[in-house]
Amino acid sequence: MRKLLIAGNWKMNLGFQEAIDLSKKLANYCKSIKEIDVAVFPASPYIFQVAKEASKTIIKVGAQNMHHEPKGAFTGEISTKMVLTCGGSMVIIGHSERRHIFNENNEFIRDKVKSAIDNGLMPVLCIGEKLEDRENGRTSEILDYQLSGSLKDIDLSPLDKIILAYEPVWAIGTGKNATPEQAQETQAFIRNWMITKFGKGIGDVRILYGGSVKPENAHSLLIQEDIDGALIGGASLSIDSFGKIIDIALEIAKEEK
Ligand code: PGA
Repeated sequence: MRKLLIAGNWKMNLGFQEAIDLSKKLANYCKSIKEIDVAVFPASPYIFQVAKEASKTIIKVGAQNMHHEPKGAFTGEISTKMVLTCGGSMVIIGHSERRHIFNENNEFIRDKVKSAIDNGLMPVLCIGEKLEDRENGRTSEILDYQLSGSLKDIDLSPLDKIILAYEPVWAIGTGKNATPEQAQETQAFIRNWMITKFGKGIGDVRILYGGSVKPENAHSLLIQEDIDGALIGGASLSIDSFGKIIDIALEIAKEEK
């Protein structure tokens, strides 16, 4: 069985003290959890301190983005090593906000995935279609394009080097989540795509769903066969809502879906 991962993408939110307070509450909340994995992605200046708060718990900490070069004149960027030495172990790559607001293309994203894997950071590669793509029946085509480009010539053996997150762009921060059926159907497509490309061994790759996940819809999404966790933005910013989603995942894990 694939272990559920509940991940909070804090984006450009929370003051320093708020981030630390939330980390402390979360560390306390997760004290005795073993059945699921939990991760948070704070703003980069907070990674070190958040990782310190999380250090004796199951909580993994990661960056929301990184550059593939190891060092150099890349104003405003951070490297894999910087994330690692600050206590981070994961990194979100290709989030739709990076693809669409900052115009990151597949080639750039692919270089970041490779750099993360080569340096021992676990990438959470995000993919997802826009509303017009879904309405025009182009969802599979877009996902195929994003997956092929972002994973081009990447060696995924051993096969537990990556996590995927399906995040339909129209569901992010809009309050409008994909229905459990839509998400399941698309995530099954992604899993099959991975198996076709990398072989049966990749069948257990974890595929998260992201886009307006909240306590009210988490259960119906997380019980789907091909949904192995959630990447959560807005609802990860308070222990109340994030904790509730963790509890829902725990309950499902204990029941063994
Ligand atoms: P949201 O964001 O939960 O606020 O929709 C999800 C994400 O962007 O990862």
